[in-house]
Amino acid sequence: CGIVGYIGKKDTQAVLIEGLKKLEYRGYDSAGIAVFTNQGLQIAKAQGRLANLESKLEGTPLVGSAGIGHTRWATHGKPSDVNSHPHTDNSHKFSVVHNGIVENYLELKDELISQGHHFVSETDTEVISHLIAREYDGDIVKAVQKAIGYMRGAFALGVLTEYEPDKLVAVRQASPLIIGIGEGENFIGSDIPAILQYTRKVYILNDGEMAVLTQDSVELMTIEGNFISREMIHVDWDAVTAEKGGFEHFMLKEIHEQPKAYRDTMRGRIDESGKKVVLPELKLTADQIKNIRNIQIIACGTAYHAGLVGRSAIESLVRIPVETDVASEYRYRSPIVTPETLVIVVSQSGETADTLAAMREAKANGAHVLAITNVVGSSIARDADDVIVTLAGPEIAVASTKAYTSQLIAFYLLALYLAEVRGTQTPEAVAQIVAAMQALPEQVESMLAKPDAIKAYAEHISKHEHLFFIGRGLDYAVAQEGSLKLKEISYIHSEAYAAGELKHGTLALIEEGIPVIALATQEAVLEKTVSNIKEVNARGADIMAITHEENVAGLLKSVDQAFAIPKTLPLLTPALSVVPLQLLSYYASLARGNDVDKPRNLAKSVTVE
Ligand code: G6P
Repeated sequence: CGIVGYIGKKDTQAVLIEGLKKLEYRGYDSAGIAVFTNQGLQIAKAQGRLANLESKLEGTPLVGSAGIGHTRWATHGKPSDVNSHPHTDNSHKFSVVHNGIVENYLELKDELISQGHHFVSETDTEVISHLIAREYDGDIVKAVQKAIGYMRGAFALGVLTEYEPDKLVAVRQASPLIIGIGEGENFIGSDIPAILQYTRKVYILNDGEMAVLTQDSVELMTIEGNFISREMIHVDWDAVTAEKGGFEHFMLKEIHEQPKAYRDTMRGRIDESGKKVVLPELKLTADQIKNIRNIQIIACGTAYHAGLVGRSAIESLVRIPVETDVASEYRYRSPIVTPETLVIVVSQSGETADTLAAMREAKANGAHVLAITNVVGSSIARDADDVIVTLAGPEIAVASTKAYTSQLIAFYLLALYLAEVRGTQTPEAVAQIVAAMQALPEQVESMLAKPDAIKAYAEHISKHEHLFFIGRGLDYAVAQEGSLKLKEISYIHSEAYAAGELKHGTLALIEEGIPVIALATQEAVLEKTVSNIKEVNARGADIMAITHEENVAGLLKSVDQAFAIPKTLPLLTPALSVVPLQLLSYYASLARGNDVDKPRNLAKSVTVE
């Protein structure tokens, strides 16, 4: 989601709308603004793109001297007018925009309802406006501080109250927020693009900090109320760079957002002991789970590749047979579905026509359908019996990165949950996997901090027209995704092969100097993979291995170079090993001068079969 706020003498509505336009990349399923007018605090909001809000405001503009705005990407509650921000309380004297998640909102909501508060939306944000109203005692800053004392989770807030029309209060707690400084006017924004056309002077808030803005002043303090001083930053980005958070392309930005996407997708789904998975959103009952006889995973493209990893996770942890199909094939192969079949559909957009059609086919045959999607309220989310939302945030680049890895996280969580219910893993085994999952974000960060070796290798392969990826088991699943990523954006022809299958035909294509990327992270099959590496080495291939540090020295006898990734459990390795492959395709595409974010002939969401 994206937040913007303004206090000053300009046309407030126009400033908010312009700011929101620049934040649409953070979410675009609904938008809204609240402005102090001479009739008090007035709110306008509309589902859909910002243009819907603009047409709603046509003829009845909100005129005033302070306001807050929001562009939404649904997490709690489907996209709708009433779930859009800003939210208010029963007195309509307070207004809140929010980015992030309040983990304990259901508890807080129950408490507020028992105290006589009425709610109109399904959002966690509405709880915040009611809390602030409850705590208000003549000082909005104190009321906000008290309210956030009750809240758990990640949030950035913009708050207005009719009682103190000269103030705009902003809070940052694990969701980004910046303050823009003007002359006789001040701004808040989720991100620099929101305010860049008005000012280049900003304060960046840290977690646990807040700001109180008037037209002529900005006070910074901790959420406990201790005043702080901060150096003002001068932003010299142009508008295009700013939209991409300082990155050259959305794809690179999204690759870098993966640690956050992992954390967000796990948040609230691991219980407080840190040892167990909880999926409170599932309607699937323990009895239904115990009765599942087979699972079918259906998806397209990158989501299908996530399904291949999902299959391994479920089969190894839960011991239920799993089939994986591309959606366009599934539908026409007369799949065998019974009421004991769980069908899992995976789709970033939730709108892919092939996936939707396959899912309807499965439903018609009596399957229980669980969707893993990144878009709440999408067609697939609406039609499914159950939904696990990946919290990767909007993905703009056509080549999927953070959505794929968040799908892996969702599959791991689901597999662990099924294993717990069916008793196929000991609590210790589950706890060990959960702990390893929680270490993944930092491990990804460590790889992203050192892109140079991959970049140099990408420049090398960018001069080739054909290459191969090989691997066994989960390495093969990741090889397929790495190969697709490379094809999509670099236009280099590549094939992913199960390493052991190469000798049954494709080895004929290996000739002197052809690049082969060998994934060798799965210890159980490492020796076998090494044999396959030797087969291509003997034919003169130019090999790069992706492996763990301890294998580098040994592998260097048969490969030209090796790239070490951090160590995790074998099952979780795809969530790490895919990252260098994403960077590889990014830099190869860049080296070839391609349009990285918008590759030729491809669309982000394909709504035809
Ligand atoms: C399109 C995109 C792919 C994506 C596939 C499935 O072909 O170009 O990147 O993997 O659709 O999309 P979905 O939204 O269903 O995950």
